[in-house]
Amino acid sequence: MPTALVTGANRGLGLAFARAYAERGFRVHACCRRPEQAHLLRAIPGDVVLHRWDARDPTATRQLAEALACEPIDHLVANAAVTGPRDRPEALDIPGWFEALHVNCLAPLQLAAALRRQVAASRARRMIAISSALASLADNRSGGLWAYRCSKAALNMAWRNLAIEVAREGIVCVLLDPGWVRTDMGGPAAPLAPEESVAGMLAVIDRLTPADSGRFLSFQGEPRAW
Ligand SMILES: NC(=O)c1ccc[n+]([C@@H]2O[C@H](COP(=O)([O-])OP(=O)(O)OC[C@H]3O[C@@H](n4cnc5c(N)ncnc54)[C@H](OP(=O)(O)O)[C@@H]3O)[C@@H](O)[C@H]2O)c1
Repeated sequence: MPTALVTGANRGLGLAFARAYAERGFRVHACCRRPEQAHLLRAIPGDVVLHRWDARDPTATRQLAEALACEPIDHLVANAAVTGPRDRPEALDIPGWFEALHVNCLAPLQLAAALRRQVAASRARRMIAISSALASLADNRSGGLWAYRCSKAALNMAWRNLAIEVAREGIVCVLLDPGWVRTDMGGPAAPLAPEESVAGMLAVIDRLTPADSGRFLSFQGEPRAW
């Protein structure tokens, strides 16, 4: 049975990933901050194992890796993220920036490092980070969302470095832009339902080859500008 690990699995795109993987017959390791309150996640039929995981808790990732010590992980999906402060350069919310950098960049990297052996031991060996079109330096025409953009741009560099670091183990690391999606983060005006975005991303993930490692792709598989 293939296995997927998804962070931020209690709502939004993470919940849609958990549902889609369970439907496909994967064992799903679903990570969230408050499993006891994750009613939608608990209601998913299939082999769904909930794990308490807070991106900002330094022991949480280590404990997760220990709990999964003997479990190959085919698809690791680093999805959890925060928008961060909506501040201005003249009045930066430094703690808010640190939170965004921690949750959006450092925690995914720590997770990948902690579970590297389990991913390398799987058949599919995929590490997917959910990035954003807003991470793109080349495509930034509208500005704003400073902390979010910077944290996701940092994630892009970290994941690209990771792709080089783990290439010899046959692990394929890709950054995916899910599009603009109707979640708490994306808001009600977004054109895409979470299920549509996730269906697109899973089709992209299915098609990945080692030559794709280190790429930044849209949910439809198109290259995104760095
Ligand atoms: N929606 C869009 O239009 C859009 C566009 C581009 C990229 N993205 C990216 O897609 C991914 C999913 O976004 P979404 O739209 O589904 O967002 P969302 O609805 O706001 O969900 C965010 C998820 O991240 C979790 N999370 C936040 N802080 C956490 C922490 N410290 N530890 C553990 N989990 C934490 C949340 O858990 P709690 O419930 O505990 O807060 C929640 O499960 C993110 O990486 C986001 O940047 C989204």
